[in-house]
Amino acid sequence: MGIDHRGFTYYLVGDIAIAKVPESIPFRLVLVERGKRVGEFRRREYEIAFGYGMTETIHREHGLRLKLDPTEVFFDPKLSRERRKIAELSSDGERILVMFSGIGPYPLVIGKFRKGCEILGIEANEIAYRYSLENLEINKKLLKSKVKFVLGDVREVHGIGEFDRIVMPRPRGKEDFLEVALRFSSEKWRNRAQEERTH
Ligand SMILES: C[S@@+](CC[C@H](N)C(=O)[O-])C[C@H]1O[C@@H](n2cnc3c(N)ncnc32)[C@H](O)[C@@H]1O
Repeated sequence: MGIDHRGFTYYLVGDIAIAKVPESIPFRLVLVERGKRVGEFRRREYEIAFGYGMTETIHREHGLRLKLDPTEVFFDPKLSRERRKIAELSSDGERILVMFSGIGPYPLVIGKFRKGCEILGIEANEIAYRYSLENLEINKKLLKSKVKFVLGDVREVHGIGEFDRIVMPRPRGKEDFLEVALRFSSEKWRNRAQEERTH
């Protein structure tokens, strides 16, 4: 028997998983995960088990509406508290770079809770980038900061200036992207990183 925080349960009869969903939880479609997230864009294969309509949906988080298709992009609702925490750690008026912005949740959550920031998200998956632009438009009235998105590989983006804070919800893999982050960080932070390396 398995159970998640909203009360979904399942049990196995032989090799059949039987799911129980409380009537109070509205859902339209059931997707079954097939394997792990793969590739640079961290996508996963799903199989439609039940339901109707498209795999595109609107997810609500911290009062924002986030449009996405989970079969095309990375999105993890379990990171919602982390996003709020990053917003709390940030300060009003900062220039903030989100190096792997996906459909835009980190820039938009920070932009909702912090005033007068300039927040830039960079994303390489064109589908996720297009959702981030749409999500910016859908939520623009709720934002207290300026948010922008750029399509591209963080290693190849130039001419965007320096940032006070760099958020890296990075894809899994060997590369830590620290050199790239240092290139975008303000002189103050570069010097501090240099000092920490030499001690
Ligand atoms: C772990 S996901 C985080 C997405 C988003 N921040 C979120 O929390 O929903 C990493 C994202 O980085 C993107 N990505 C991978 N390599 C990249 C690169 N070199 N430059 C820019 N984006 C990249 C992937 O497409 C994916 O959307």
